[in-house]
Amino acid sequence: MHHPIEHDDPLEEPLDRAANYLRDAQTLAVLTGAGISAESGIPTFRASDGLWENHPIEEVATPEGFERDPRLVWRFYNARRASVAQAQPNPGHRALVALEQRYQDGFTLITQNVDGLHTLAGNRSVLELHGSLRRTRCTVCGDIADRGLEPLDELPHCPKCSGLLRPDIVWFHEMLPQDVWLSAVEAVYRCQVFFVIGTSAVVCPAAGLVPLARRNGARVVEFNLTRTEASRYCDVGLYGPAGEMLPKLLSRL
Ligand code: OAD
Repeated sequence: MHHPIEHDDPLEEPLDRAANYLRDAQTLAVLTGAGISAESGIPTFRASDGLWENHPIEEVATPEGFERDPRLVWRFYNARRASVAQAQPNPGHRALVALEQRYQDGFTLITQNVDGLHTLAGNRSVLELHGSLRRTRCTVCGDIADRGLEPLDELPHCPKCSGLLRPDIVWFHEMLPQDVWLSAVEAVYRCQVFFVIGTSAVVCPAAGLVPLARRNGARVVEFNLTRTEASRYCDVGLYGPAGEMLPKLLSRL
């Protein structure tokens, strides 16, 4: 018996639906997590070989951990900075640049990632919910500076007030930058389609954007290797590497 390939491919129907949502929409908001950068060689957090397996969260990603041992924390973040310095945006990042070109001001990219790869790829409307590996913040005067990805001292100090610098990253037990968060919520209220890409959707408040989009009437599309905590709020799931699924979807528009 002959089965045309279109009928056998389980991705056909979800890809078609997602493409139809995009065709009908003027506004798109996207939430990304570590999974979109996995194909650029950056480890995720919660995989069996992920960052949180080898580095206890309490030690390297809380203000209490930083107070206890700032050298250990800086060693961890300098290593992450060095690894991101080697990384390049992948086809998933580039597909999101094409989507911004399509929707222009109707497009907002909300990311939990601190690697800066969305901006490097060429996206302009990027909201970094969890800060950036590229920036330092002074624990004394609060000055925020872009330091690129060059290696920093083991215990870097503020050029302005010589206070101890910390990474400008949002740690557990800390608030998100409120202006960034409010812009993200606004974008979610405005969007007709919402993509949730490469996140396990377990860290609040970011994960709460998915049910918010849903309640607000957006069509929600998940891109991930597997189902997640977000899946129950999604109209369509595209399960596979984001760097393959996003270009596949774009080629249908
Ligand atoms: P996680 O490590 O929790 O989840 C990564 C997700 O990406 C998983 O659901 C994977 O299945 C999926 N994934 C992996 N490779 C993929 C691929 N090639 N294509 C598509 N999906 C893929 O990372 P996040 O959800 O980003 O916060 O974690 C959220 C926050 O928790 C991070 O921002 C960080 C972390 O602790 C802070 O440090 C404050």
